[in-house]
Amino acid sequence: MALNYLASLMVAYLCLGGINSTFSSKKLGNEVSGNGIGARITAEQYASDINHLQNIVKKIYNGSKVIKPLVLAPGGFFDPIWFKKFIDKASKSLQVVTHHVYNLGPGSDEHLIDKILHPSFLNGESNTLSSLQNILKHSGTSAVAWVGEAGGAYNSGRNLVTNAFVFSFWYLDQLGMAASYDTKTYCRQTLVGGNYGLLNTNTFVPNPDYYSALLWHRLMGNNVLSTSFSGQAKLRTYAHCSKKSKGITLLLINLEKSTAVQVLVSTTASTSNTSSHIEREEYHLMAGNGDLHSQTVLLNGKVLTIDSSGVIPSLEPVFKRVSDPITVSPYSLVFVVIPNINVLAC
Ligand SMILES: *[C@@H]1O[C@H](CO)[C@@H](O)[C@H](O)[C@H]1NC(C)=O
Ligand SMILES: *[C@@H]1O[C@H](CO)[C@@H](O)[C@H](O)[C@H]1NC(C)=O
Ligand SMILES: *[C@@H]1O[C@H](CO)[C@@H](O)[C@H](O)[C@H]1NC(C)=O
Repeated sequence: MALNYLASLMVAYLCLGGINSTFSSKKLGNEVSGNGIGARITAEQYASDINHLQNIVKKIYNGSKVIKPLVLAPGGFFDPIWFKKFIDKASKSLQVVTHHVYNLGPGSDEHLIDKILHPSFLNGESNTLSSLQNILKHSGTSAVAWVGEAGGAYNSGRNLVTNAFVFSFWYLDQLGMAASYDTKTYCRQTLVGGNYGLLNTNTFVPNPDYYSALLWHRLMGNNVLSTSFSGQAKLRTYAHCSKKSKGITLLLINLEKSTAVQVLVSTTASTSNTSSHIEREEYHLMAGNGDLHSQTVLLNGKVLTIDSSGVIPSLEPVFKRVSDPITVSPYSLVFVVIPNINVLAC
């Protein structure tokens, strides 16, 4: 038994996911998979501990009316050999395979912002996500993948970067990319704390990423659609079925400093009503004062700010005719709810 080696960190997370909006779970261990951070445990030992933990959970909750908590592991950095061995040996005891994302390196990096705005750097994480998806697909387990902790830049992030507008380019891209590889839940490090809080650590006033998360949560449904973009490489695109309305919702991310992009949407295997009366909703997010380091965000040109009693502002779209192209400004993030495209998957 190595259970006593494993101290779980208490951290404040915000988890966005399709499984449940609230859930209860037990995570065994923190960052001891693969080579580990400070300590490591072999995949065999870890799997045997998880099998033991699942038996304990089963016994405790046997006959209980309370929903049995999910068993999560290993909560560490992805290592394909370690993870495969572990998942094979614990396949029946695990509900969720979690991994951590700190792909931007240390928060002390003065050039962090260049990584956040670089498409090939952002693409890097897709190797991990697709490799884990493949392992799960071929292992015969019913466990699903979660990003269990993601702060982007380790050692507490970087002030005025990971708590500023620019971090939404990384964060929303991560949410889109993780979902496209069937990640069911994405836990952000942190809700409050360090330099990567969704809320200001002292005042609890929302940072820009809070609003990005809120729009994602309200607009993007659980079904992910395959999306591609032809044109310049600095526009990144994701599409889901809409969460609450008919049709599809796009997330468009423009990493260009000075070029606006006109987007025309075309779909395969869908029908659409092109009646010119139909309107779509657009939510354009841009940096306050045009400064990527700003901790305020503009939605459709208006500053998002809580009122004196701390109430979150309503997030109002602008309406455009579906026949018009979508204009994505430089350094902006845009959600577009298109009601008239009917995809079979939605
Ligand atoms: C919540 O998640 C659990 C485990 O995946 C599932 O059994 C349960 O049905 C879910 N509840 C809802 C309301 O979706
Ligand atoms: C659950 O309880 C039933 C009845 O008390 C018992 O037969 C069964 O073995 C228990 N299962 C576990 C996993 O403890
Ligand atoms: C297309 O949308 C218009 C406006 O909502 C509606 O009047 C019309 O019936 C729709 N046509 C079809 C084929 O659904």
